Amino acid sequence: MKFFIDTANLDQIKEAKDLGILDGVTTNPSLMAKEGITGTNNILKHYKSICDLVDGPVSAEVISTDFKGMIDEGRRLADLAENIVVKVPMIKDGVKALSWFHANEISTNCTLIFSAGQAILAAKAGATFLSPFIGRIDDMSWDGIDLIKQIVEIYGIQGWDTQILAASIRTPLHIVQAAQAGADVVTCPLSAILGLLKHPLTDLGLQQFLDDHAKANANHIIKK
Ligand code: G3P
Repeated sequence: MKFFIDTANLDQIKEAKDLGILDGVTTNPSLMAKEGITGTNNILKHYKSICDLVDGPVSAEVISTDFKGMIDEGRRLADLAENIVVKVPMIKDGVKALSWFHANEISTNCTLIFSAGQAILAAKAGATFLSPFIGRIDDMSWDGIDLIKQIVEIYGIQGWDTQILAASIRTPLHIVQAAQAGADVVTCPLSAILGLLKHPLTDLGLQQFLDDHAKANANHIIKK
């Protein structure tokens, strides 16, 4: 399973990259706004900075909701760097745009996926990645991970190669469950990635090793 970070924050992207586990980045208009990146030129410049930082796929979302607008925007985004993936919402013109990008060999990420039916349409349209929003489904008291399982099963039966990218990940447990469900990719906030590290027995065990070493070392020096 590939690890993407879901942020437009360059420091957080660098921190995840330094761990040596980062395979790519996803962004969305809300995440760009959160970083205070506004205006078309600044937004394009920021995507370019992210692409320069990471070798893997970087999802950049279109703002247009009509076919022509999505194609124009997507082409401009794709021209920025080889690793740009054009993020397209699951709406009627979005499906048309996914087919166009597929025919023109531009990678895509179909976003705002909340049902297996939408996942089927996106795969048929040739999306490279598919983003089911796990956390937002859980927020509605449905089970986001169940949707991942269902899509994994359908794509397996049909032999479709659209990669299932579990998005709207909120917790380390979501990452574990997405891996178990067979997601191809998870995109997570840095906090969820770092949360995977945590276990109190690791901290206690390490402290004991260090204390034992310090004690043994101190005795050794005294005996000398
Ligand atoms: O990748 C989509 C993601 O950014 C949405 O996450 O936490 O806003 O539901 P969230």
